[in-house]
Amino acid sequence: MVTAKEPQQQVKIGPTRLLINNEWIESVSGRRFETINPATGEVICTVAEADAPDVDKAVKAARTAFTSGEWAKLSAARRGDLLYKLADLIAQNIDELARLETLDNGKPLQDSLGDLQLVIACYRYYAGWADKVQGKTIPISGPYFCYTRHEPVGVVGQIIPWNFPLLMQAWKLAPALATGNTVVLKTAEQTPLSALRVGELIVEAGFPPGVVNILSGYGPTAGAAIAHHRDIDKVAFTGSTEVGHLIMEAAAKSNLKRVTLELGGKSPNIVFADADFDAAIAGAHDAIFFNQGQCCCAGSRLFVEEKCYDDFVAKSVEKAQNRIVGDPFDGNTQQGPQVDKDQFDKVMSYIESGMRQGAQRLCGGNRVGDKGFFIAPTVFADVHDDMQIAQEEIFGPVMSIIKFRDIEEVIQRANNTMYGLAAAVWTKDISKAHAIANNVRAGTVWVNCYDVFDPAAPFGGFKQSGMGRELGEYGLQQYTEVKTVTIKL
Ligand code: NAI
Ligand code: MG
Repeated sequence: MVTAKEPQQQVKIGPTRLLINNEWIESVSGRRFETINPATGEVICTVAEADAPDVDKAVKAARTAFTSGEWAKLSAARRGDLLYKLADLIAQNIDELARLETLDNGKPLQDSLGDLQLVIACYRYYAGWADKVQGKTIPISGPYFCYTRHEPVGVVGQIIPWNFPLLMQAWKLAPALATGNTVVLKTAEQTPLSALRVGELIVEAGFPPGVVNILSGYGPTAGAAIAHHRDIDKVAFTGSTEVGHLIMEAAAKSNLKRVTLELGGKSPNIVFADADFDAAIAGAHDAIFFNQGQCCCAGSRLFVEEKCYDDFVAKSVEKAQNRIVGDPFDGNTQQGPQVDKDQFDKVMSYIESGMRQGAQRLCGGNRVGDKGFFIAPTVFADVHDDMQIAQEEIFGPVMSIIKFRDIEEVIQRANNTMYGLAAAVWTKDISKAHAIANNVRAGTVWVNCYDVFDPAAPFGGFKQSGMGRELGEYGLQQYTEVKTVTIKL
């Protein structure tokens, strides 16, 4: 039940203007927009609304910082120091940041704190890389000395989503800054607040003016202005596959800026009858219900072997019915509201579609409470591959359980999707585990676990789940250009 009693005034709101050139300014138009608390539907505050002219200003600041500012002269080791300092400041303010994230996004406070551990780890991980990005000496023929330099790409536009606002900001900023780029980052219109507070900490850490510029604003205006901008060298985007297509198109039509995309998914989570049953039940539950189901890598196609299907469905329903939905500030809460009314409506319409197309709804499907955007954990059984709920990204607390018979069949069906972000397999048979790991077309495969994230391990999509990788050493490649230098001896 919803008992959102948390007084908003106990959460410190932080800046609500744009951060350009280390100054907090209103938008050129003077317009502001509202951000709401999804647990109550009430307005938290308004924030400055950036559009194309603000993007221009931010790009100019970022370009100056890149070419002639203090940043351009800074040693790689010093860039690392600044990132360590930022990580320390975030750690010192972890409770405040977690509360702000929960207020604006609706995720349970415990989950915001969990995200923040990964945020801090990400900044520290890339701080360590700053002075370890290096080229090669290459033995070419003739009287020449040939070597490569890994140089920053330049001014980078970054567009992030609302499902993990602080974490997506870290995944974007940390590798870009470690490698010496400057950044214009646009937050999602649903969740502008936490990233702006981090902007304050970025200034406090000592990053020079223009290195990090943070804009709040809408996608088709400020976001599109970034994607189309002729003086942005690269755009990194996380969000829907639909907008991913628009970003690539904008890059193609403007200046062929580099593009990296982290998009949607419909990840198969495959349970064999020989798996540790309790671990698989718990893992499958978390794989879909974590973060209100709003995860690009959610295990949203749960394939369960025929032999254990009925048992698995019964246990999964029981677990879903016991999930605690309610006030995200309550320490016992496991599930908060969907991020906004659009997402709430979208998820509810998929639930209707599942019922209409003949899937069996065994629990949930209804709104919880009379305000905010809470949806009861929902389980569908007898889901078939061609149903809409088995093909499209729902992005909500909706488990779809699908029956399979053998391994060849399940590999083929797992791959029958335009997506390829993640997959998982639950089994005690090492051969089956490897067969799934090798043959499912996805950027990440988890074996007997799910949602294990570490800044050192790369993440990204096959097929229409994206291009490029974030995190790890691989993530650095997306933020550097290789320059070949050849010297006659
Ligand atoms: P979206 O893709 O529209 O929004 C993500 C970001 O892109 C936001 O910052 C938004 O302002 C920006 N954006 C939107 N239109 C743009 C444009 N034309 N040019 C440049 N930037 C633009 O996603 P939305 O509408 O919030 O959610 C729709 C669906 O997308 C969700 O239901 C979910 O299925 C999927 N999604 C996937 C995410 C992931 O982590 N892969 C994150 C968010 C949404
Ligand atoms: Mg959208």
